[in-house]
Amino acid sequence: MDTGSQIKLSQIVFDTPIDSIINKNKIPLKFQHCSFDNYIPNKDYPSQQEIKEKLMDFVRRLEEYNKKKCCRTFVERFVKNTKKPKGIYLDGGFGVGKTHLLSSIGNTYKGKSIFVSFSELMYLIAYFNLLPLVEKMSEFDVVLLDEFELDDPGDAMMGINFIREISKTDTIVVTTSNTTPVALGGRKFDIMVFKERIGKLVNYFDTYAIDGQDYRVTKTPKTEYDSSKKTLTDLYSEYQPKNRKKLYLTFDELINMMRSVHPVRYTNLNEHVDAIFIENLRQFTDDELLDALRFTYLIDILYYGAVDIYASTDIQLWHMFSDDLKDGKFKNKVMRCLSRVSEKGVFVNTKS
Ligand SMILES: Nc1ncnc2c1ncn2[C@@H]1O[C@H](COP(=O)(O)OP(=O)(O)O)[C@@H](O)[C@H]1O
Ligand SMILES: [Mg+2]
Repeated sequence: MDTGSQIKLSQIVFDTPIDSIINKNKIPLKFQHCSFDNYIPNKDYPSQQEIKEKLMDFVRRLEEYNKKKCCRTFVERFVKNTKKPKGIYLDGGFGVGKTHLLSSIGNTYKGKSIFVSFSELMYLIAYFNLLPLVEKMSEFDVVLLDEFELDDPGDAMMGINFIREISKTDTIVVTTSNTTPVALGGRKFDIMVFKERIGKLVNYFDTYAIDGQDYRVTKTPKTEYDSSKKTLTDLYSEYQPKNRKKLYLTFDELINMMRSVHPVRYTNLNEHVDAIFIENLRQFTDDELLDALRFTYLIDILYYGAVDIYASTDIQLWHMFSDDLKDGKFKNKVMRCLSRVSEKGVFVNTKS
């Protein structure tokens, strides 16, 4: 077996200074190529072109604002009326290109931006506490906050508190909704719930609803089960290109890693690994809620980091979470995880 680019779990450094995670200030690998130029609006949905233009205009205004901010005194700014641009809430169905557009802002804007997912923000708040985190984040001109989650009132409130505090600084927040496939049709609902939850802060945002169909459906065929009858170890040793770094571990090893490492540090995996091979993936049962949530977050991280996912299992993908988990309080996270795993994953069925 080729051993060139095999990575062991023990080789992964999880305890890098946490500040470095924030300061990396990077658009996730999966979206690093995204720009306004390669966002192709669908003519059947005029809102796509309109919103693209609005966001490009936002970047211009943001650049203007920050240029003037550093060069003028307060009085001059006041007189010349350099208005701070409003934040943006971008609502839309699954796969219409919200994260693509959000990343295009970061990839186009010449000043300092930071990209965080809502789940990551929750873990960062838990790690740093709200105000110290706001202080760190206020070093950036714009926070690109992907997938604002409204389903859990506690988390939504934390997110809103974050926006309230950061809105007192010069930093602007652009955020997207997190509609998952099961919640389709609830799209208009998302924007209403957002406005209701955010209360007075609604004036801080311009809200745009983007229409369209899931772009992925036409572009990326889904692979659920590998039909070649190869084993997971076959796929592991044949993984190409050879210089890509691959990690092979059992499901139990994965669970132990997720328990022993703080989730804000999971992102270190993306630095070390291009593909992950999980042996004997099994179902998360009702009493494994914490492990299940950690797993959904891990998949988010791997998804953003464009890490390939391979797994052997004797269950259908749909049964990876028990029915209660799929229908419970964290339904959205679980469904998003299933959708991302089915988009990215290659599965070897060990049931013969
Ligand atoms: N109009 C578009 N033009 C080019 N690529 C697109 C477009 N819409 C979506 N994509 C691509 O499709 C994939 C899914 O888009 P994404 O931004 O993740 O959707 P959403 O965040 O709305 O669920 C991404 O790889 C993205 O780059
Ligand atoms: Mg998205």
